[in-house]
Amino acid sequence: MSPGPTILKMKTDAGVSEYELGRNIVKTLPEAVSGLNAVLFADNRLRDRLDDLPPSLPVVFLKGGESIKTMAGLQTIYDHLRRCGVPRDGLLIAVGGGTILDLCGLAASTWGRGLDFIAVPTTLLAAVDASVGGKTGINLGELKNPVGTFHPARRILVQPDLLYSLPRREWRNGMAEMIKTAVIGSAALFRDLEAHADDLTSKLADGDPRRRVAGIDTLPWQDWLAAAAAVKMKLVEKDFREHGPRRALNLGHTLGHALELSQGLDHGQAVALGLAAVSRLAAAQNTCTTRTADRIIGLLENCGLPTTLRPENKQAVVKLVERDKKTLGERVGWVLPVRPGRVLIDQAVDTKTALDHLAERRI
Ligand code: GLY
Repeated sequence: MSPGPTILKMKTDAGVSEYELGRNIVKTLPEAVSGLNAVLFADNRLRDRLDDLPPSLPVVFLKGGESIKTMAGLQTIYDHLRRCGVPRDGLLIAVGGGTILDLCGLAASTWGRGLDFIAVPTTLLAAVDASVGGKTGINLGELKNPVGTFHPARRILVQPDLLYSLPRREWRNGMAEMIKTAVIGSAALFRDLEAHADDLTSKLADGDPRRRVAGIDTLPWQDWLAAAAAVKMKLVEKDFREHGPRRALNLGHTLGHALELSQGLDHGQAVALGLAAVSRLAAAQNTCTTRTADRIIGLLENCGLPTTLRPENKQAVVKLVERDKKTLGERVGWVLPVRPGRVLIDQAVDTKTALDHLAERRI
């Protein structure tokens, strides 16, 4: 593991964001809030973990999970900002997983027409994906994130040891996004993950999803997180508002979203299935080699993630993929792997064919 903190910078038309990664990085928060009117919102599972915060800093604990990402959840944040009298040059800090970061990011971007925002991701999924790139949002009815903004956190503070108590299920979910990110933009990260395949298998392939993972701290999280954040930050810098290259980050998500909604799967499980399906599809049409598809699927399986599924109601999944396409007039941006570190975006794929490749392990 790298000895000191790692700091990565991203510049977009919304300003500069720093991804700061290392031991004790959260201890820099008191300095950051000094002299500012700030409020900190945190997942209530972290009640006992947030020491060393200035006593003057208001801390509000929230229940994480999709149920907070609603209009009512947003109203709760606004009510606290009003009560605390946070001015437009104030600061909002969010500590938690993707749902809390998405919700608080949206509140930060709209309160006073835009507050400074610091994100402290406390799940692997949020450290790899939700905290980087500035997408904020809430759900509305059955729609995921139809209301949202682009408002990047000015600082993203990632302290790997805050993740170590996560249950196995959360590590698996986060690894789906980590592997996805490696396939999109870092052959080196992909090879390093493969070099740790035995370790990943022994820790994640089997075992109780609700339990902590013994020895998880021995893996090189600081290096992996830095590599994954660098891939995402580069894409976001190129294409902040997702008109082109940023769409690569949807690898595995076109089918994944529909599976998450229709099959009651975790986000990471659904992304793993979507990624496995498009890898087999890409191999079948020679966009990538069979070996590449096998390597991607192998790594997902090392991490205890599912790679095949036969949905009972295929038509419902097809409908959801198509609905995603129509909502807000977006195109279904199928992303296909070429080799680790390279993908193709905006590929025309027949949804039913993609679903056929979801069911078959054989490539
Ligand atoms: N989660 C994909 C993106 O931020 O673009």
